[in-house]
Amino acid sequence: MSDSFEARARRADAYVQQLFVPRDDALSEGLADAAAAGLPAINVSPSEGKLLHLIVRMARAARVLEVGTLGGYSTTWLARALPPAGRLVSLELDPRHAGVARANLARAGVADRVEVRVGRASDSLRTLIEGREPPFDLVFIDADKEGYCEYLDLSLQLVRPGSVIVADNTLRRVLDEGPEDAGVRAVKAFNERIASHPRLHSLIVPIIRERLDGLSISIVE
Ligand code: SAH
Ligand code: DHB
Ligand code: MG
Repeated sequence: MSDSFEARARRADAYVQQLFVPRDDALSEGLADAAAAGLPAINVSPSEGKLLHLIVRMARAARVLEVGTLGGYSTTWLARALPPAGRLVSLELDPRHAGVARANLARAGVADRVEVRVGRASDSLRTLIEGREPPFDLVFIDADKEGYCEYLDLSLQLVRPGSVIVADNTLRRVLDEGPEDAGVRAVKAFNERIASHPRLHSLIVPIIRERLDGLSISIVE
């Protein structure tokens, strides 16, 4: 078969998914309820969810901060990787999204470990900094792309040496031809920032969705 590289990449992701991402009723019912409530289907892919889960466990993270909850799909993958006394704070602007997420997190059995905070992420991050929150072991950035650089700078005040910062969509439309929108410009600025930041060692791992995307991974010095 002489299919395109893109088609083969999508089949590779499907192969990985069927081997390593078992069907899960809580996750699929959560996605169905999010769609029924009119939330956009812009959650991480199943294999990217599994990757986030593995990164939390590899980092032995017990305190996780997420920026951008949507319906709680990535939140569930992250929360299930926590040790019994672990805790996850997820920041979401839209109270409707937060409501759907809370119901989905309860169904997934992780509501006791997760707090969804409603508000602008930049405000919530500043509140966490002012509240002398103990450091987070892992931060997952996945909200509005225009905010990524600010979320990174604020997150750096909420972590410790050895913490991990990951960000979704860091290759999304980055290599497309034609005029760039503000989101793509912001993602490129974020990528340049994590590439040259004196406190970070970083890379972007390509992610196969419908289209090429990426997950940036940084460790804090
Ligand atoms: N992490 C989710 C997807 C998040 S989609 C998953 O993979 O399942 C991005 C989310 O960021 C949306 O729910 C959107 O409402 C939220 N968002 C957008 N701007 C925001 C802001 N300024 N502060 C906090 N959340 C924001
Ligand atoms: C889209 C995908 C995302 O993962 C996200 O966080 C925002 C938007 C998208 O495909 O439009
Ligand atoms: Mg995303």
